[in-house]
Amino acid sequence: MYLSNNTSLITTHVLQEMKTRGEKIAMLTAYDYSMAKILDEAGIDVILVGDSASNVMAGHKTTLPITLNEMIYHASSVVRAVTRALVVVDLPFGTYQGNSKEALNSAIRIMKESGANAIKIEGGKEILESVDRILSAGIPIIGHLGLTPQSINKFGTYIVRAREEEEANKLRSDALLLEEAGCFSVVLEKIPAKLAAEVTQSLRIPTIGIGAGNGVDGQVLVVHDMLGINNQFSPRFLRRYNNLYDEIKNSVSQYIEDVKSSDFPNESEQY
Ligand code: KIV
Repeated sequence: MYLSNNTSLITTHVLQEMKTRGEKIAMLTAYDYSMAKILDEAGIDVILVGDSASNVMAGHKTTLPITLNEMIYHASSVVRAVTRALVVVDLPFGTYQGNSKEALNSAIRIMKESGANAIKIEGGKEILESVDRILSAGIPIIGHLGLTPQSINKFGTYIVRAREEEEANKLRSDALLLEEAGCFSVVLEKIPAKLAAEVTQSLRIPTIGIGAGNGVDGQVLVVHDMLGINNQFSPRFLRRYNNLYDEIKNSVSQYIEDVKSSDFPNESEQY
């Protein structure tokens, strides 16, 4: 078990130092105060308020419907719980692709209204102007390449990306562009492990993988998936650390039985 005794604040500079000394970065998603508090106390380095909230919190099929206001609500709940981890928030679909001014305004709203430390944004060359403008306002950015779920309607499927050389080459050059622009990290989602390791070695900034093998500088998972709260999603890259779906369901069944049988509350549970 990893027991964190490092109480110092995680900043983007600390993540860079971790890459330099070869210490892996542990990142998980969270969308609410209670979960974020547990993750932070356990010693997680980075909490991502991902737009996967659209799926796991709101029950949408894709990440596309979640709004900027909803992301700010989730992010501010997380920020209130966190004392150590770096809090990163996804810019949701439709709030940065239009033009760089809109992208900057969206990023500013997230930083100002939630108190988060950084934003994450999907894409490479095509969003570079927005990346530049957000960075020039002093807002740190994590890039996101490979399987970018906001483009699911373009991809048509959630299969592994960049298996073909043309797409792999674009990913290599996008990663360099994001680093040169000043992003402090890049998420690599669902790409071949060999490509992810190669990109990681070519970059100075840390890479965080999800379904991208072990040659990256850190890992991220959706917390509901790794805890088994969501038991509908079992991709090969997912390691489940618990089966909370069954544990919670069994506890609720027991509670129902106790209420129906008048076993709860007993004498010591009343005034
Ligand atoms: O929204 C999210 O949870 C993400 C991770 C899967 C990287 O972007």
